[in-house]
Amino acid sequence: MTIAFIWAQDANGLIGQDGHLPWHLSDDLKYFKQRTLGQIVLMGRKTFEGMGSRPLPRRDNLVLTRQADYQVSGDNIAVVTSPEAALEYAEARPDQTLFVIGGAGVFMSFADKVDTLYVTRIAGTFTGDTVMPELDFSKFKRTGLRTVENDDPQLTHSFETWERL
Ligand SMILES: NC(=O)c1ccc[n+]([C@@H]2O[C@H](COP(=O)([O-])OP(=O)(O)OC[C@H]3O[C@@H](n4cnc5c(N)ncnc54)[C@H](OP(=O)(O)O)[C@@H]3O)[C@@H](O)[C@H]2O)c1
Repeated sequence: MTIAFIWAQDANGLIGQDGHLPWHLSDDLKYFKQRTLGQIVLMGRKTFEGMGSRPLPRRDNLVLTRQADYQVSGDNIAVVTSPEAALEYAEARPDQTLFVIGGAGVFMSFADKVDTLYVTRIAGTFTGDTVMPELDFSKFKRTGLRTVENDDPQLTHSFETWERL
């Protein structure tokens, strides 16, 4: 089983504002979709609700919450109440990558186990309330880098891939 993180952050590591992304960057949404289609996406309850409480299409969605009675609807979505339960789900589906898609606490829970990091670094600084936890990049090697210039320099961004050494 492969575990990957995928997220976008600004120059200060900011990832969220009031339940949503602090920016609108369609190129990054397209990249996210392309990377995660057909895979398992694991998200925290707040991230799920920030997306309108709807599962991402053509992906197996897992919502992490401590609320044992949390209700979701759809045939491609399930609730898990611990990171271990998410791992069990993914272990039973070895052909799929487990994409942890946030937010902050969920990334933290998998920081020691993650194999691949897909980070979109956005050049600007934004206002928000949620920051990506520090990861130890010395344990990873960068294997991919593509920079996309934007007319708005705040939105110039780089897609990076890092693999665990
Ligand atoms: N830029 C990006 O790439 C990116 C990616 C993801 C999210 N975001 C942004 O980040 C913000 C949301 O992130 P967040 O960190 O505030 O919230 P979150 O991680 O999405 O959700 C937090 C909730 O997840 C559940 N949870 C977390 N760890 C758990 C554990 N170990 N066991 C069981 N349940 C657990 C809890 O739900 P209960 O309270 O229900 O128990 C917790 O309150 C939004 O603004 C979103 O747009 C940005």
